[in-house]
Amino acid sequence: MADQQGYGLLKGKKGLIFGALDERSIAWRIALACKREGAEFSLSNAPVALRFGDLDELSEETGAEVFPCDVTNEDEIEELMQNVKEEHGKIDFMLHAIGMSPNVRKKQDYKELNYQWMQQTMDISAISLHKVIRYADEADILADGGSIVALSYIGAHRIFSKYSDMNDAKALLESIARNYGSRLADRGIRVNTVSQAPTRTSAGKGIKGFDGMYTFADKIAPMGNPTADECADYCVTLFSDLTRKVTMQNLYHDGGFVTSGIDEQMINDLAKIYADDEGDE
Ligand code: NAI
Repeated sequence: MADQQGYGLLKGKKGLIFGALDERSIAWRIALACKREGAEFSLSNAPVALRFGDLDELSEETGAEVFPCDVTNEDEIEELMQNVKEEHGKIDFMLHAIGMSPNVRKKQDYKELNYQWMQQTMDISAISLHKVIRYADEADILADGGSIVALSYIGAHRIFSKYSDMNDAKALLESIARNYGSRLADRGIRVNTVSQAPTRTSAGKGIKGFDGMYTFADKIAPMGNPTADECADYCVTLFSDLTRKVTMQNLYHDGGFVTSGIDEQMINDLAKIYADDEGDE
């Protein structure tokens, strides 16, 4: 984690952060890192999450105003952007850390997906990125030279069976980031996704087999899985002026997992297990 004092990387910058639910949320860690780096921001989450989560605590700690908004509801997004405009005028950064799949939650098999739930997955976890950018732009609150980051997962590109239709949602999310990024580039506004390694949060815990996915990634990645606080530090650099020409990218933050093949210890252990199996036959 960066020095407690921070580097002042976001001094004078204003932002909007979606998706902080409890202290383990990646968005919560990002909010704390943004505060440490000198930013001012508003927080937003779905009304139901405001009732059951701990967002008031984060609001107190960071001095950030909280605005309810269900990102599937366009009227609520429109109202949110007006509130943010009143609060800050324009914003320099926006974080989309929103994801939910009823199919994953209810452990529905991929071959038997409930399509109504799948549409909810897409709407909440991917199309909402398009909606929040669009309504922020229409409210004229996106400052030139700003930065938008959405959190993704490698399931957008590789098969992680337990991640079910969230794999499809993340693929769409990354595509929206590229496509919107190309349309905001003339104003110097960056749009990127950060593909974070498995992280123990409420959303993570809801995935069947999450512990196995976590350990597998942790063993394969030469640096091991990065924490939510390390993800927060990375996002700070993307919100800062130090990355002004980084846009339309999916950026892996995974300790080297994506380009790794095997882990020696894991291979040796597996070889032993299979040798024992063969011996048993
Ligand atoms: P989390 O459960 O703390 O955050 C998910 C957030 O989405 C919650 O705050 C929830 O209230 C919000 N949300 C759900 N439906 C909403 C709606 N209709 N309107 C507004 N907000 C809504 O979990 P986490 O892990 O911090 O998730 C943040 C992001 O990071 C998600 O996009 C997730 O897919 C992504 N991610 C998580 C990884 C993990 O292993 N935990 C790995 C890679 C990416």
